[in-house]
Amino acid sequence: MSEHLSSSAAPASTTKRRILVTSALPYANGSIHLGHLLEHIQTDIWARFQRLRGHECYSVCADDAHGTPVMLKAQELGITPEEMVEQTRAEHHQDLQDFYVNYDNYYVTHSPENKALCETIYHRLDEAGYISKRTINQLYDPQKQMFLPDRFVKGTCPSCSAEDQNGDSCDVCGATYSPTELKNPRSVVSGATPVLKESEHFFFDLPQFEGMLKTWIRSGALQDEMANKLQEWFEDGLQQWDISRDAPYFGFEIPGAPNKFFYVWVDAPVGYMASFKNFCDKNDVDYDSFWEKDTDTELYHFIGKDITYFHCLFWPAMLEGAGYRKPTGVNIHGFVTVNGAKMSKSRGTFIKGRTFLDHLDPEYLRYYFASKLGDNVTDIDLNFADFAQKVNSDLVGKVVNIASRCASFITKRFDGKLSDNVLEPELLAQFHGASETIANFYESRKYHQAVREIMSLADKANQFIDTNAPWVTIKDESKQQFTHDVCSLGINMFRILVTYLQPVLPVLAEKTEAFLNDTLSWEGAQATLTGHAINKFKPMMQRVEMEKIDAMVDASKENLAATSTPKISAESPLAKDPVSDTISFDDFAKVDLRIARIANAEHVEGADKLLRLELDLGGETRQVFAGIKSAYAPETLIGKHTVMVANLAPRKMRFGLSEGMVLAAGPGGKDLYILEPHEGAKPGMRVK
Ligand code: MSP
Ligand code: ZN
Repeated sequence: MSEHLSSSAAPASTTKRRILVTSALPYANGSIHLGHLLEHIQTDIWARFQRLRGHECYSVCADDAHGTPVMLKAQELGITPEEMVEQTRAEHHQDLQDFYVNYDNYYVTHSPENKALCETIYHRLDEAGYISKRTINQLYDPQKQMFLPDRFVKGTCPSCSAEDQNGDSCDVCGATYSPTELKNPRSVVSGATPVLKESEHFFFDLPQFEGMLKTWIRSGALQDEMANKLQEWFEDGLQQWDISRDAPYFGFEIPGAPNKFFYVWVDAPVGYMASFKNFCDKNDVDYDSFWEKDTDTELYHFIGKDITYFHCLFWPAMLEGAGYRKPTGVNIHGFVTVNGAKMSKSRGTFIKGRTFLDHLDPEYLRYYFASKLGDNVTDIDLNFADFAQKVNSDLVGKVVNIASRCASFITKRFDGKLSDNVLEPELLAQFHGASETIANFYESRKYHQAVREIMSLADKANQFIDTNAPWVTIKDESKQQFTHDVCSLGINMFRILVTYLQPVLPVLAEKTEAFLNDTLSWEGAQATLTGHAINKFKPMMQRVEMEKIDAMVDASKENLAATSTPKISAESPLAKDPVSDTISFDDFAKVDLRIARIANAEHVEGADKLLRLELDLGGETRQVFAGIKSAYAPETLIGKHTVMVANLAPRKMRFGLSEGMVLAAGPGGKDLYILEPHEGAKPGMRVK
């Protein structure tokens, strides 16, 4: 029996396209979560589809390293921003790979390539007259000595007087304002009251690009609904864009402007170019041809709707102004919600990629998102009941089931080989014929329609098997050929379905290749396997169990609590006196702790618990009555350094005024220990 592939008319392959795709660069100060994954999976499916169709398609991403939040988080962790960014980059990259999101390069914006590109672009924009300088007034934290981005100022809403509102808008009444309008403003970083301070800033002349942008947004680069949204922004009028930030800032210094840095949103999109440059240099790919003005290569950015302004106004204007090509398309998606609501840490629905991986198969999520993703910006709800039902009924119950129903007969009764006959050519032709429809759905990012089409074919395959019931005919000696033909057609239909699903389910496709002894390709779906040896069928996908989902949600709740509720032994002081409720940094910053030298210590007449301490703060002396008599002889304390609460309201006591408090640990009696700083601490130094 000879093995051969018969092929019905293969689609005339279009000319080979050269394509670069990107996903938005995740900030390097948090974990990859399900919201990010929607985007990366959307991008990855599209890139895999293009490659499967034989096009030259590269995909790149990176971590977005710069800006104030990253800088402050690194300070909090006591490491350099460079160290923090590299750790986060590696973690993000691993998370994404574990979801089978395969970028050609996953780089970081804090790179030499990015620095050089930013400088080139800046020089070109400057030479063309698009950069100007102007002095502005901005809120400044006098304690931390830094200018404050809007989100680092909080205060009372100027319009409804709700307390604790953000610097740019009020969550209670929805008013938007500038942080200088807040009542009782305070710095989120130090708690200090911000002051206005002048600084010279650099501006990019966005209004010069209005004409170009109006044409570009209607060039097919954007979804209609987004082009309409941008139209509204044009009506509000475009403004000069502030592209500089003052030191201290983690970013790239502006050439010729010491202590002035590019705003993170300047170098972030340039990071797309830099990541690709880094890849091209190592892999001998022609970088320039993807960025020069009159190129016929294609460039697509996949982003969430929240960052439209940056990608559809600033970015194309920067590219145009610096003499580069503009994006062919900016593909915008909506936000992930879970069980109908915004992802929530307290409900356990703010789910990190890693937590998902700890409990569930990443292909479930790829499939679920694909089954919901269209080319619009509506939000995508991950409903757990729907999720389990879809994966179980579509993937396990329909697709994989086709193979498992047919394979064992082929293996046990027909020598592991498919039949030479094609039983129902018209039925198979429907499977072949769906190729271009499904391809068009992928191409236009209507993945949900591609999935629907594929599932309706899967239904047909299952009906065919049900009708012909090979498990019955196999018992009839006279129907052996028929049974062989039925099972072989089933396997061929399965092969085509998995080929169409390959962009979504790369691992299922790999398992299928191993099972079928075959390499899947889009064109290959036009062929039919006859007389072909296949391998023993092994289970390919487990059903989703609701308990696993519950465990994942619990773990997402635990992730938060984990830091405050470790396992505690009975002897630990924590067993009797657990750690208090979390406070904000602001709350902590209110307590002014200082190093003090114990200038004098003495007994107090008539007091059986107290010692009178004179504390030298390096300029001021405070009298403090401390309840430490049971543990310390006063003369042993004189000359030592300790820590005191310096801004505690003074308290009138029977023996005099107590102007602060010294810190001590222990249950009391002899078991009392006052704090002593390491050598080198000087009176008056703040403890923070
Ligand atoms: N660093 C910027 C992007 C710079 S691109 C030159 C940024 N980072 S982000 O980490 O906040 O978001 C990265 C991407 O994830 C954005 O496209 C954003 O829209 C997307 N998402 C973040 N949360 C999301 C959901 N809950 N749902 C869907 N996408 C969301 O913005
Ligand atoms: Zn308000």
